[in-house]
Amino acid sequence: MLSKVNFTETPAYEYLSNHLVDIADKHLRDLFKEDPKRFEKFSIQFNDILVDYSKNRINETTLALLIQLAKECELDKAIKSMFNGEKINETEDRAVLHTALRNRSNTPVLVDGEDVMPLVNEVLAKMKKFSEAIIGGSWKGFTGKSITDVVNIGIGGSDLGPVMVTESLKAYKNHLNLHFVSNVDGTHIVETVKNLNPETTLFLIASKTFTTQETMANAHTAREWFLKSGAKEADVAKHFAALSTNADGVSKFGIDTANMFEFWDWVGGRYSLWSAIGLPIALSVGFEKFEELLQGAHEMDNHFKATPFEENIPVVLALLGIWYNNFFEAETQAILPYDQYMHRFAAYFQQGDMESNGKYVDRAGNAVSYQTGPVIWGEPGTNGQHAFYQLIHQGTKLIPCDFIAPAKSHNPIGEHHTLLLSNFFAQTEALMNGKTEAEVKAELVGKSVEEIAKITPFKVFEGNRPTNSILVKEITPKVLGSLIAMYEHKIFAQGVIWNIFSFDQWGVELGKQLAGKILPELRNEDEITSHDASTNGLINKFKNWR
Ligand code: F6P
Repeated sequence: MLSKVNFTETPAYEYLSNHLVDIADKHLRDLFKEDPKRFEKFSIQFNDILVDYSKNRINETTLALLIQLAKECELDKAIKSMFNGEKINETEDRAVLHTALRNRSNTPVLVDGEDVMPLVNEVLAKMKKFSEAIIGGSWKGFTGKSITDVVNIGIGGSDLGPVMVTESLKAYKNHLNLHFVSNVDGTHIVETVKNLNPETTLFLIASKTFTTQETMANAHTAREWFLKSGAKEADVAKHFAALSTNADGVSKFGIDTANMFEFWDWVGGRYSLWSAIGLPIALSVGFEKFEELLQGAHEMDNHFKATPFEENIPVVLALLGIWYNNFFEAETQAILPYDQYMHRFAAYFQQGDMESNGKYVDRAGNAVSYQTGPVIWGEPGTNGQHAFYQLIHQGTKLIPCDFIAPAKSHNPIGEHHTLLLSNFFAQTEALMNGKTEAEVKAELVGKSVEEIAKITPFKVFEGNRPTNSILVKEITPKVLGSLIAMYEHKIFAQGVIWNIFSFDQWGVELGKQLAGKILPELRNEDEITSHDASTNGLINKFKNWR
């Protein structure tokens, strides 16, 4: 069981609130001037990942107090509870063991007294065999041809992880064409299968519950499309596989459970890319690379589990997030990868973070009196620079940003990567330093006194905007695995301190129930009066126009 400490009632919280008064007036420029060793003090290297958090509005006292806060909230105990398979997802009475899926050391992990590692290894072996048969071409479709296209049908955690990872690792991909259908909007599946050949297409129906409306609708449409090609029911086995925890649901749909890749209720949807849900990844880059991804995550797990908080990357990132979220009242957090392949990384952690920590009820069942999870957003650099960075630099909101970049590009063409990285370094420097009035005036030399006076206020940048710079050697499967695990643990650590349950998602369940109630009303032409005036009006106009 996780403790139920209200972090705002801890001594550390009070110290931090007092300390904020000192720090709030300090400019990052001055903090750097005062302490030339900031980079050494406030950066951590872990394998091929360097996390520089020196451009944050902190000093050594801040860090010490934040660490005290983590200790007072019993974060160390919570970490142990998670890794040990305790049922820390209390509202669903489940353990939280995505770490077991990537436990490359293969040490026993017990759930209800039973070691789950043999099951994990069995499914991994099945994924290996299957992916090798598909990639190698020995798996034949109903007319004897090898598979050329794989369509993953899933949504949320059964989509975003595989999409993000296959995109991030595109440089490693083989000849198979990967497609992802998630939206229940018919356009998604229609546009996806439009140019596909049913004889050479494999569908993966990815759903933890195998009941999700969007996924089931898309899966049925995919099967109809497949059968229309002249294939027989018996051929479905060669073209459909399921990634699920629900064997009954899978066989009711008509998929042979021999083609089912199992995972378990102790794997949360948004933490499931390490499980059978990762099959599209193994198909796209090969099983060995999938194992490297698991290895990278496992090494980050070990770092998170065993490193003192001062040097523990996920813990430090979590605490910095709390510093801005709860003391500086920042509402959002941007994730800005300077790597085109990682263009879905922020979208992935929108679910990872917001579905986990978007909660206003604490672990004792009471409404919280403080802010919990931030809004996560972001786009790859440099595109973001030409879109929303204006607000980050000169807007009225404080937006802490994570900048992520690889030192080596997979496409070292001309000067592109040097140009990209010059932007990466320049942005965090500019956000920190800003531009003073004197600097602006020096730039305007030659203009009239009136002109200078008129334009100067608009060209001044306050600066003092905090960033983390996460520089990695190269986006390899292993590095990516570590980066994902780093954010997962950051989210967990924050949830522990905010005293919320990070591994359920009751808010999403409500939407599922409500849509289920309205659906029958849309299936007839009757006038609807059962809702509020707005909903009735909208439904009736829809019926009139469709
Ligand atoms: O979006 C809510 C959610 O429950 C996610 O947590 C999950 O990843 C997604 O739905 C899909 O669920 P399933 O894998 O069961 O289809």
